[in-house]
Amino acid sequence: MKILFIGDIVGDIGLEAVQHYLPRLKRKYQVDVVIANGENAAKGKGITKRIYQDLLMMGVDVITMGNHTWDQKEIFDFIDDVDYLIRPANFSEEAPGKGMVSITKNGETLTIINLHGRTFLPPHQDPFAMAEELITEAKKTSPLVFVDFHAEATSEKVALGWHLDGKASVVVGTHTHVQTADERILPKGTAYITDVGMTGPYDEILGTKKESVLYRFKTNMPVRFEVPQEGREVFSGLFVELDTTTGKAKSIERIYINGDKPFKG
Ligand SMILES: [Fe+2]
Ligand SMILES: [Fe+2]
Repeated sequence: MKILFIGDIVGDIGLEAVQHYLPRLKRKYQVDVVIANGENAAKGKGITKRIYQDLLMMGVDVITMGNHTWDQKEIFDFIDDVDYLIRPANFSEEAPGKGMVSITKNGETLTIINLHGRTFLPPHQDPFAMAEELITEAKKTSPLVFVDFHAEATSEKVALGWHLDGKASVVVGTHTHVQTADERILPKGTAYITDVGMTGPYDEILGTKKESVLYRFKTNMPVRFEVPQEGREVFSGLFVELDTTTGKAKSIERIYINGDKPFKG
């Protein structure tokens, strides 16, 4: 099974980057399943039902979220009605929505799990224990399991990667918006990267307008962070191929397309 993962889609520029590159990448890699992190798709803050539907139309199969899950109030009205949008599984038991979903493509079933870190982030339930519990559940159906770990600290992400080596097929990190160059297949067969990076504005600060972020750093004064509507785009992703019998990763390739590194077909 061939999987393409798209890192945090930020605002309209991020959505345009998906539109530009997803068809070409699907063709190049003969992708079976596309997963994308959509926590910043609505101008940096959360996701709307319209954007969820647009992303599915563009060819995304499953959307994961993160700390921005609840930023758009309308999510409370639709999260329980849509099939392919998941939020971190270790949020409160009171939270609506779900943290795990399975999808069948070309006869093979893949389970996608979304988890949230808790180092430098709010104290959610233990993602390490939750991961094991959900993977055990998922493996009753299929050995193919994909984990998006939305977390801040590189140490916590590397730790979850090793914790799940041989248990999950893939563990990707999201949230920092900066791609790391440490993609590898761990000894027991789990494909791993600390952070896939962001799909959105290329010439800004993590997708947010430079001027506002610089003002905050220089003055420590409150300022409204805005996501630009136009400008150059960056597409950050990861391609992995899985052995459908063992659930182990066969290959991993980091994707990073921008004005300085154009798409190569
Ligand atoms: Fe993000
Ligand atoms: Fe985030």
